[in-house]
Amino acid sequence: MTTPTAGSSARDVPDGTDLAALEEFAVDCAAAAGAFIEEARPAELRVATKSSETDPVTQMDSAAERLLRERIAAARPDDACHGEEEEATRGTTGLTWVIDPIDGTVNYVYGYPFYSVSVAVVTGDVTTPGAWRPVAGAVAHPRAGLVYHARRGGGAFARDASGRDEPVRVSGAVDLPTSLIATGFGYDADKRRAQGKALVPVLPRVRDIRRGGSAALDLCHVASGLLDGYYEMGINAWDMAAGWLILTEAGGLLTGLDGRPPSPDLIVGAGQPLHQALHDLVAEALAAFDWSADAPGR
Ligand code: IPD
Repeated sequence: MTTPTAGSSARDVPDGTDLAALEEFAVDCAAAAGAFIEEARPAELRVATKSSETDPVTQMDSAAERLLRERIAAARPDDACHGEEEEATRGTTGLTWVIDPIDGTVNYVYGYPFYSVSVAVVTGDVTTPGAWRPVAGAVAHPRAGLVYHARRGGGAFARDASGRDEPVRVSGAVDLPTSLIATGFGYDADKRRAQGKALVPVLPRVRDIRRGGSAALDLCHVASGLLDGYYEMGINAWDMAAGWLILTEAGGLLTGLDGRPPSPDLIVGAGQPLHQALHDLVAEALAAFDWSADAPGR
């Protein structure tokens, strides 16, 4: 890994990094994998299970991750790679590609069009919450013909199929009762029971709840004002890395509980005027029961 210089932290961008080039490369990768999962989808998907019988993985998840890893290794052989389906690889540059080849695999299996490919490049240690930050990233939503993308300090955009970039911006929502909030659920039955308990006090205090099925897209939809906020317990780095940056570059905030960094424990994302209220509502809902006892291992 690149040694940080005096006064820098592990989350600083290594000297000489061209963030605009990394952003374009992330867009290329996400778009290529997005096209691949559409065009190469076989008539019969082979669906195996991972953490539980509700947690599917298909041959297309593995093949799309291979495609992404091969592209990254060819263009950026010294960067590390951390993805959902394969072992992490180490690098020497201080940059790690964090990839989810299909975020929303359940939707993909059913042909329900809310799934995405998430590609981010981050600094720091992606396995430790708070020790890493995304610096460029892209989320492809192939069934909508869009690729959301951002780099640190460069704003957030949605690129359409003709290659035209449109800036995206969070909604101006301020009040919870008129806010549309998304969330998601894990694959473990105990975890779901606890997530259901946490939802009970939230539901009557917001406009409505959406459960899209792709955390990366939920974050992009908050970034573009299609949703006002999003929260979830149990999210992995590959689900959130690109969406986190796109949301913050669109004027939003993503945090964990009580000012802590986003982590698998909790992420709460919204436009800045709404964020605190949504955080406090979710924190109150979680405080009403023993979350860690109810959802062992989260
Ligand atoms: C899942 C999706 C879903 C979220 C789950 C994730 P996957 O990712 O992002 O929206 O609620 O927590 O695990 O398994 O489809 O890559």
